[in-house]
Amino acid sequence: MQPADLNMTTTVTGHQLFLFVTLDDGGDEELAGAIDVLGEGMENVDGVDGGPSEEAFAKGRFQLLRAEYGFTTQQQIVHPAVSESDGLIRLECATLEPIKGYETGLRTLIDAAGGSVETLAGVMRPRSYTSHAMTEFAYAHAMPPGPGEKFPLAAVTPMNKTDAWWQMDFLHRESFFLPRYDENEELVVKGHALASAMGVPGINRRLVHSPDGYGVPGNYDFVGYFEFAEKDATVFREVMAGLRDKVQNPEWKYVLEGPEWWGHRVRSAAEFLAKP
Ligand code: HEM
Repeated sequence: MQPADLNMTTTVTGHQLFLFVTLDDGGDEELAGAIDVLGEGMENVDGVDGGPSEEAFAKGRFQLLRAEYGFTTQQQIVHPAVSESDGLIRLECATLEPIKGYETGLRTLIDAAGGSVETLAGVMRPRSYTSHAMTEFAYAHAMPPGPGEKFPLAAVTPMNKTDAWWQMDFLHRESFFLPRYDENEELVVKGHALASAMGVPGINRRLVHSPDGYGVPGNYDFVGYFEFAEKDATVFREVMAGLRDKVQNPEWKYVLEGPEWWGHRVRSAAEFLAKP
């Protein structure tokens, strides 16, 4: 289904590619050098405090991450090329071409080294369901992006929504983001925003949407990406538990998740390829 048929925004504000790399034998110095060359002219997000400048976003930005194998969890959709990967390179750019070029280059290098690359693609969009008041609640106090030293951990949450979700009219869909109250105005369920509210101050969050419409095979409807400090790892887990609690957050009745992939951010290709 296309966003326009769902009362959702049709605007695209940027592109992201999540390149999950599997490379059993690790890599050598030569491969590390070649990966560093791929990123030349782009901004390494690992060192950046705050959001991107217009110029950096136009040229493309990258973040290298190494898998935190023990933290990754399998959810409903089995996807070993993601869950068993050794690392991730997250790319973002105002246009697709520069980061597609990086992806092609990386695939050539990793294939030649005997590994493989699995790509999840998404587009950035303005929010569709969010009022001014919800912006104040859920985004105005949200944690801005920070460097890897400050927020070393990251989690990726690919997911689909079911056909039943996409067939609901938008007022019904929108209602899942808000708390629900009974006839005496007592809170009955928290809904998405309240169930996850404890994550607002300490978790930096980004979301991309499927590039070719929702409910389309071959692409997840959404890929979430979250960065946080070690001390907030428990908060992130509690937020996920709150969202997955179908009593407090009935939206999740309509969600099928891919693996919840965890990694830690690294600065250089040498660190990215280093054996654990
Ligand atoms: C940390 C606190 C969080 C808050 C306050 C929050 C709040 C919101 C709000 C208000 C929206 C509606 C956006 C719109 O207008 O389009 C939204 C969408 C969404 N959020 Fe969260 N969220 C949080 C964390 C998470 C987490 C941890 C996940 C993990 C998977 C997640 C997944 C999503 C998805 C997939 C959507 C798009 C849903 C759709 O359009 O059907 N959120 N969130």
